[in-house]
Parts: sequence; structure tokens; C-alpha cells
Amino acid sequence: MPDTSSNTEADIYVPTYNAQSPDKPSVLDAKCSHVIKSFQEAFPGHTPDFITRSPGRVNLIGEHIDYSDFSVLPMAIDVDMSLAVKIIPNESKNPSITLVNVDPQFAQRKFDLPLDGEYVTIDPSVSDWSNYFKCGLLVAHTFLKKHYPDKFNNVPLIGLEVFCLGDVPVGSGLSSSTAFICAVALTIIKANMGLAYPVKKSDLLKMTITAEHYVGVNNGGMDQATSIWGQEGHALYVQFKPTLTATPFKFPELISPPTEIQFVIANTLVVANKFETGPINYNLRVVEVIVAANVLASMCGVALAYDPESDFQKGNLRDFMNAYFITFSKDKDCWNGGVENGIEKLNKMLELVEEKLGPYAESGFTVDQAAFSLGCSREEFTRNYLTVVPIRFQVLKLYQRAKHVFSEALRVLEAVKVIMRDGQDFKSSIDFFEQFGTLMNQSQESCANMYECSTPELNEMCEIALQNGSYGSRLTGAGWGGCTVHLVPNENVEQVKNALVEQYYKKRYPYITQQVLGNAIIVSKPASGTCEYII
Ligand code: ATP
Ligand code: GLA
Ligand code: MG
Repeated sequence: MPDTSSNTEADIYVPTYNAQSPDKPSVLDAKCSHVIKSFQEAFPGHTPDFITRSPGRVNLIGEHIDYSDFSVLPMAIDVDMSLAVKIIPNESKNPSITLVNVDPQFAQRKFDLPLDGEYVTIDPSVSDWSNYFKCGLLVAHTFLKKHYPDKFNNVPLIGLEVFCLGDVPVGSGLSSSTAFICAVALTIIKANMGLAYPVKKSDLLKMTITAEHYVGVNNGGMDQATSIWGQEGHALYVQFKPTLTATPFKFPELISPPTEIQFVIANTLVVANKFETGPINYNLRVVEVIVAANVLASMCGVALAYDPESDFQKGNLRDFMNAYFITFSKDKDCWNGGVENGIEKLNKMLELVEEKLGPYAESGFTVDQAAFSLGCSREEFTRNYLTVVPIRFQVLKLYQRAKHVFSEALRVLEAVKVIMRDGQDFKSSIDFFEQFGTLMNQSQESCANMYECSTPELNEMCEIALQNGSYGSRLTGAGWGGCTVHLVPNENVEQVKNALVEQYYKKRYPYITQQVLGNAIIVSKPASGTCEYII
């Protein structure tokens, strides 16, 4: 990874800027004046005290493997959620939070803060945007109570007026939910501890990583790590084990011929609501890969450790991989993140998937078959695996899901090998595009055929882009709609964009407005992460 910058002291804390800060991200001034103005229109006569901001992200490769603890390669992008916040001192008897959103689909909300200092309640059966705010509020409140019990037990949180201005397309795989929740959690801590209180990035990450579980979405940690640790000009190599690290890196500089690497992000404009479709899509996949890990362990005679941090309290596919090598390999070693060692181990996993789960590739696993493979009763299996989150299915496709996860984790390591090379080591710039692009294309194929998280629209977009100058095209984020990402040399960007406009957008949406079209394609440089701006 050429030009890797390591985390310095300054990287430890969420940065705080003001109008005079010389080092503030380039986009900040414009974003801040926009959200301040919008706040003043929404709350006439009031002025916000501070702004929090957190970006969306695009995942370049490594899809649906973060919740199995395998590493991913995302980057933060220019679109973000900015919150302008006014603190309303708790002089009144009823501290409350009022939320106004620039987007009319998110109507104004106001709720009281419990006077006895208890947590707000979230009803996960209701799909409402304020629930996402409450997720950030709840995890930050938990942090405050844990670290400052004297200050926060039995005392209400401080009241707020908040204006929300987000331009991450919603439900489109660019993590609008995380941008929102990270900005909210930071807001709550700053408002209640004082604007000068230093918030550690690692603390913000730890508290937000499972925040969406409160609205019933059992996501992994990629989005939060990227939004919080994002760094201008750098993509991130996010590892979840043995410890959670986000290593910033730059892509190789390509000189023969000289060209720049661009990632074009194009939205299918099909919104995927993870909350609403969770039982048949996202959450079902989370369950399938946990069951796959435990069935593989049982079939191989390997004990999988109980995991107190998992909602399922069961080991995942990475835990299975480690347990397998600890049990059977000569040196009894876990995978510690090394690239070559990981590639070797993942290849062995893929062999095991063929051998053990291959016979069930066509049929899938019924509840009875899965229970039998685990040596437990149907009731026990149902209780331990099928009732943690609501899901609906005919059969569990354990072969396909495990094959996707291990092969995608392997592709990430192959991609790391490509980006670790110096630009001069590529015979020609095209070599880089072909090598990285091939991995992205294989990822898309696996997402479509093994993980079944692609859609005809996502597939069509990838086809069009590949025929018009992209070297690697794939869905990004959860899938089932949302965005695609394309690896494109600078000189091909216009051609790819034009082809998508003519062959996708204008065909599928003949009445599409210039404004929607203008927002549908994003070419973003890697952007900086969560920050606070004091007015
Ligand atoms: P992905 O998780 O696949 O990357 P995503 O985060 O955009 O995509 P979801 O996880 O389904 O999609 O989250 C979308 C939900 O987050 C919305 O339905 C809404 O409740 C909340 N949300 C996101 N952005 C905003 C916003 N700007 N204003 C209010 N609520 C928002
Ligand atoms: C969503 C989740 C992430 C990750 C991706 C798929 O964005 O929030 O944790 O699982 O889907 O890679
Ligand atoms: Mg999301």
C-alpha cells in the first residue's frame, strides 16, 4: 500500500473546526453556511451553536463480509449528513428534541427526554426516520451513563433543536443511515459534555457500531468505521479482527501512460429499504452465514466459541476458520490478518465449502436438515437461530452464502496485493485497471449469483459501464437496489457517464428531471470523516 499514513495523535480524536481553522476539509465552509441558513429559516430567531457532520461511504470491494469479521476496502465520500444544533438549556420542565429535515419526505418530529434520565424508547416495528436519530441518541446516552454515572444517572439529557441536512442518497448503498447516526451520537455527547469535550474516534465507533440493531438492522461495522475514520485522498483498509483498525491508503500513481483512477458511483434509483425488507434480504443473510458457520463447524467436528458480543451469541465464518486451523493445522494458528496466510486459509475454506455444503447446493437446508446437522432439536434450532431477528425463508442457502463470503474475503486480500504495488511496478497503467477491475467484476458476479443481493437494474448498469470504459463494475453497499461503483480511468469518465445517462436513466425513466439526473451519478474523491464545527 504505497503512501500509507499511519494514525497520528491528531487522528485519535474527532476533529473540531471553526471558521478560522486552517486545516479544515475543503467542503466544510460551504456545507456549514448552508445548514446554518436552513436552521435559521426553520427556527426563526434562533442561531445554532455547533454543527456535526459525518460522510457517506462507497465500498470498493468486500461486500456482505463485515458481519463475518472479514476485512473490507471502502472510502468516505463527499456527500454527508450535517446537523445544525442549538442547545436549549433545561430550564423548562420538559426537555425535548425537535428535529427538522431539509427533505420533505422526513416530516418534523418532536419528542420529550425522560425526566428521570432513562433512555428514550425505540419501537422497531415502526419505520420512521426519527428512530435513526434515537439510535444515535441512545448509544451516546449509554456511553455517557457508563463513563459519567454521577452526571447522567437520574438526570435528563439536554434539550435540542436540530436541523438535518443530508445529501447521501437514502437507501442507496452509500450508508445514509450511518452518516446520520454518527453525526447524532457526536451531537449528543458534545451537547451534554460541552463543545470542547474531546471525543475519541474509537469511542464513537464502538458506540455506533451496533446502533442500527435498535431499529432491527443487524449490520456489520464497515459503514461506521469508514464514516468516522474517513481521510481526504485516502481509501481505507478496514480490519475487524484481531483488532478493529482502519488503515488509510492511497492508490498507486499510474504513470505509463499517466492517468488518474476514478470511482464513478451511479444510483439505479431503486430504493432499497433495509429495515422493511430485512426479513427476506439483509437480516436473512446475516442468519444464513451464522448458521453456515455453525453447520460447517459441526460437520468438521470443530467447537465454535460462544461469542458474547454477537446478537446470536454464536461464532461466525471467521471464527469457524480460526477454530478449524487451531484444531487441525500443525502450527495451530489463527489468521492474524497477514495477506498470504489469509489467502491460503481462505482457499482451504472454499474447498471445505465444496466438500461439506456442496451436496446441498441445489436443495438448500430446511429447518429440519439444519437442526439435524447441528445435532439439536428443531425447537432448539428455531430458538437459537431463527427468532433473534424476524426472518422469512423457504430453505437456507448455506452453500451459496458461505461460498460468497470466503471468496469475497479472498478477493479483498488479492485487491490489497494489487494496491500495495508501486505504480511503477505495473507494466502499463492498464494492468492496474485490469487486475483491480477483474476482482470487482468477480465480486459482482458472486453478489448476483451466490449472495443474491443484486437486481436486474444493478446488473444492467454494470453491463453498460463495462461496455463503455469501466474496468470493474459492481453493486456497492447492501444491494437489492441502490448504487453501483465503477473503476474508470480519468479519460473514460465522461463516456461512462454519458452511456449510463442514455442507455439506463433515459430509457428506464423517460421523464427524469435534470436535477435527479445530476444527483444520480457521483464522482467523489475520498473524503474526510466525522467532525464538529463550532460556530
Ligand atoms: P446502505 O445501508 O445499504 O449503505 P442506506 O444507509 O442509505 O444504505 P438504510 O440503511 O436502509 O440505507 O437507511 C435508510 C434510512 O436511514 C432511511 O429510511 C431513514 O430512516 C434514515 N435516513 C437516512 N438518511 C436520512 C436523512 N437525510 N434524513 C432522515 N433520515 C435519514
Ligand atoms: C450495509 C451494512 C454494512 C455491510 C453492507 C454490505 O451497508 O450496513 O454493515 O454489511 O451493507 O457489505
Ligand atoms: Mg445503512
